[in-house]
Amino acid sequence: MAVHNAARACGIDFGTSNSTVGWLCPDRPTLLPLEDGKITLPSVVFFNYEEDHSVFGRHALQEYIEGYEGRLMRSLKSLLGSSLIDSQTEVQGKALPFRHLLTLFIQELKQRADRAANRSFSEVVLGRPVFFVDDNPKADQLAEDTLAEVARQIGFKDVSFQYEPIAAAFDYESGIEREELVLIVDIGGGTSDFSLVRLSPQRHMLDQRHDDILANGGVHIGGTDFDKQLSLHGVMPLFGFKSCATMPRCRPASISTWPPAHHQLCLHPQSLDGTARHLPRCYRTESHGSAVQTDSGTRRTLAGHAGGDRQD
Ligand SMILES: Nc1ncnc2c1ncn2[C@@H]1O[C@H](COP(=O)(O)OP(=O)(O)OP(=O)(O)O)[C@@H](O)[C@H]1O
Ligand SMILES: [Mg+2]
Repeated sequence: MAVHNAARACGIDFGTSNSTVGWLCPDRPTLLPLEDGKITLPSVVFFNYEEDHSVFGRHALQEYIEGYEGRLMRSLKSLLGSSLIDSQTEVQGKALPFRHLLTLFIQELKQRADRAANRSFSEVVLGRPVFFVDDNPKADQLAEDTLAEVARQIGFKDVSFQYEPIAAAFDYESGIEREELVLIVDIGGGTSDFSLVRLSPQRHMLDQRHDDILANGGVHIGGTDFDKQLSLHGVMPLFGFKSCATMPRCRPASISTWPPAHHQLCLHPQSLDGTARHLPRCYRTESHGSAVQTDSGTRRTLAGHAGGDRQD
């Protein structure tokens, strides 16, 4: 991106777990503080019914953990490329289109970035995974188009994209003195991307770097899968998993992490399956297993699995 655009352009890394916004300030790439001086905003929204407001990021997780009545939604990025994007859910008795949920979060990112940089960004480069959707170029394009549409809707006049691993390569490239072939491994919340790229100080300022991407690929395995294994093999056994004679009907794998999109997005008793809904009592005896816990109890237990909140 040309330096003369510095005042109007920002780069957004909308992540499954965490999001960041960077800009040229005016000629030095800088990450903007988005929450309490921190450069990341966890990609989480909490609709607090008691206080009648919505909160984002760490504050969202905090209110959720404190036990407020409400609804937590995370892994919003998984909406992109999913059929859910054209459907809606219910928040406080009202229909909330998932597309609008996505817009709410990205708009919040923009507003925070605008405030931190003391200007209104009108151009954006959005990071995108190598694949939003595997083996389905049409759905993949649709995911990118959705993100572009959201960006335009919240006020960005100029919208472009950069592959997430390439964005990481640019950063490394700024510090090298000769051409190198580099393997970029980007392990995210839901996906891991691998890219072999050609980097050099001479090519660093070129706008189009497509020819320097020599190979790339991605798999849908990320930090969330690690959390799941840790939960199943490290934590759950301490609470009786595989040791109780009378285990309830719940499926531990289904509650070991945030499951696929439709569950990740709907951490509300009505949206969880019959098993997870009874989670707080899952580790008691079967005679208590069917009792429905209070809303806040359910949320607290699920919140124990909330990961991806960087400490930086
Ligand atoms: N400070 C941290 N401590 C421990 N684990 C972390 C920390 N930050 C991130 N992680 C782990 O790394 C994973 C990836 O985090 P990251 O913020 O890079 O994901 P993301 O960019 O939001 O995801 P994606 O690129 O898939 O959209 C998280 O899901 C979490 O498991
Ligand atoms: Mg990422």
